[in-house]
Amino acid sequence: MSSTTLRGRDFFTWLDFTRDEIEAMLDTAHDLKRKFIRREPHRVLDGQTLHMLFYNSSLRTRNSFEAGMTQLGGHAHFLQPGAVYTPALKGEEVAYSTERISDVARVLAEMGDAIAIRIYGKPTGWLYGKGDLIIREFAKWSKVPVINMEDDMYHPCQALADVMTMQEKLGHNLQGKKFVMSWAYSGSVAKPLAVPQSAVISAAMMGMDVTLAHPEGLDLDPKILQATQDLAKKNGGAFKISHDMDESFKDAHIVYPKAWTVQPTDGSGIMDEAKAKSVFEANKHWICTQEKMALTNDAYYMHCLPADRDMEVTEEVIDGPNSIIIEEAANRLHAQKGMMALLMG
Ligand code: CP
Repeated sequence: MSSTTLRGRDFFTWLDFTRDEIEAMLDTAHDLKRKFIRREPHRVLDGQTLHMLFYNSSLRTRNSFEAGMTQLGGHAHFLQPGAVYTPALKGEEVAYSTERISDVARVLAEMGDAIAIRIYGKPTGWLYGKGDLIIREFAKWSKVPVINMEDDMYHPCQALADVMTMQEKLGHNLQGKKFVMSWAYSGSVAKPLAVPQSAVISAAMMGMDVTLAHPEGLDLDPKILQATQDLAKKNGGAFKISHDMDESFKDAHIVYPKAWTVQPTDGSGIMDEAKAKSVFEANKHWICTQEKMALTNDAYYMHCLPADRDMEVTEEVIDGPNSIIIEEAANRLHAQKGMMALLMG
């Protein structure tokens, strides 16, 4: 695949890309990782600037983009709403400290080569879809690519790192391998849907045998479920939903147990915190234990991190021999370098 097909494109979700285009990003990521390990120079974005706007906290995303841009010969600026003027949608300007997104996007685009944004949850009033809308508003005005560093619907960079890690562990061709995205209990209901939604999309695109497991009341976005079903069919994989964690773990090659919150169903888009708390507290037994791991086909344990230990997963599993969480986090660096090299190069 020629990189020219990807140059200048935004990166909101895998759903905007063909499998060939995603494979090109992954192949580039593996190649750049080999160069990184051998200490071979790979300054393919020499002198370029990535502007990063973080409305939420981050360890992995911020540091992997910053280190990645340095290694590619460029630089990443860290911008925090509140420290810069807070980018606002039309009608949202409420104070001297806000600035219209149309102006922020156009100004940053004049000074750099891409804009990356993280926004979900509290800064959006837990209004499902608003983070994604804000990122797309940036893209409407920016003449340089806009990269989603996690919004309330998608975390496409995490998905790239996850698939890259699975390829390293299970082989490049993931066709038919059983991937289980499972809900797991957390003491906090402030858990976006972006990671599980991107995980099922990406595993289905790679032709995996995908099971989504969760208690009743924790359904993902129906649009994402339909897209996952379509991708599984198109790519020779499978997709099913289970409400039984033990049953879903049987014969799995990969398990990815993680909390996510209740999808709003009343049309308001706003998370119902009381309902979420009630569903969470009724399902404390959804924890990834060694007993559950024993049901699998010697599966690898994955998590995007940060994990809620002793709630989502026992220490024995997360620190055990089948846990690949550190490789997964490390691959954020390489996966995003592969994506940026093609979109910005
Ligand atoms: N997985 C992930 O996105 O980590 P951070 O929140 O630390 O960026």
